[in-house]
Amino acid sequence: MDSKRAMNGSPFDKRIKIVFVLGGPGSGKSTQCTKIVEHFGYTHFSSGDLLRAECKSGSKNGTMIQNLMKEGKLVDSSIIVQLIQKAMLESKNDKFLIDGFPRNEENRIAFEKIVNIEPELLLFLDCPESELEKRLLSRNQGREDDSVETIKKRFKVFTESTLPVVNYYEQRGKVRKVNAAKPPEEVFKDIKAIFSSFQQGNHIGYQDIAIEGKPEHSASLIERCLPFLCIISILLFLFQFLLTSRQLYTFPH
Ligand code: AP5
Repeated sequence: MDSKRAMNGSPFDKRIKIVFVLGGPGSGKSTQCTKIVEHFGYTHFSSGDLLRAECKSGSKNGTMIQNLMKEGKLVDSSIIVQLIQKAMLESKNDKFLIDGFPRNEENRIAFEKIVNIEPELLLFLDCPESELEKRLLSRNQGREDDSVETIKKRFKVFTESTLPVVNYYEQRGKVRKVNAAKPPEEVFKDIKAIFSSFQQGNHIGYQDIAIEGKPEHSASLIERCLPFLCIISILLFLFQFLLTSRQLYTFPH
């Protein structure tokens, strides 16, 4: 179901726009989402942050979640989807960036079942593992999952479970890939172009900018050709008219 038709069968009573943000661990999902929020007025939810907050809240699932995260394993989909849905329902906004989600097919299917809204697009931050590892090992935020051993497990989960989800949305024309190996400001330049085009109402499956070399939106192509079609029609009409009047003059003789 398209998010513009979200109200039927979804728990929301308004039209909701959702953008999923995926990329390897350390690809800059949080960094870039902060910038997108500043420029485009989205509300940002990070699945990792929601889970860390759940651990701190002392909920019954807290210890189980903490142990899975420490191991770089994925938490049960129903837990993360409930947390995302709760956060969305509590927000007054109608545009959401959901970062680090869906991380596997199970996440995706659970979201479809529970929230019943399809994303407008999926922003994919593409970055080689060597660069990701360097960033994670030097960020020093005291995260338990930033050890060399757990980082390797997180990379494995990303390749085996998350990339198939990216492929799923790629086939639906919803993926926008950016090169995330550049400095943050340069990465954001590309992202800004994508969101600006998207805000102007261009169809999500196509865009005019060259990032992915996709074809232009077919409606705008017709719009652009319309003046030429009109001129050709007028010329044809005039030609036909001249031909007919010439015949009228010629035949009586
Ligand atoms: P999560 O918290 O989502 O971690 P992650 O995906 O591994 O990503 P990070 O938060 O480490 O990095 P990021 O991409 O946000 O990059 P950042 O901007 O911080 O998930 C943690 C765990 O929670 C998972 O392993 C799993 O157990 C669980 N979980 C989460 N979601 C789940 C789900 N949906 N289902 C089940 N379980 C789930 O940047 C990283 C560093 O790089 C920073 O120091 C930053 O300053 C620097 N940096 C950023 N961009 C650049 C740049 N362009 N150039 C140089 N440095 C940069």
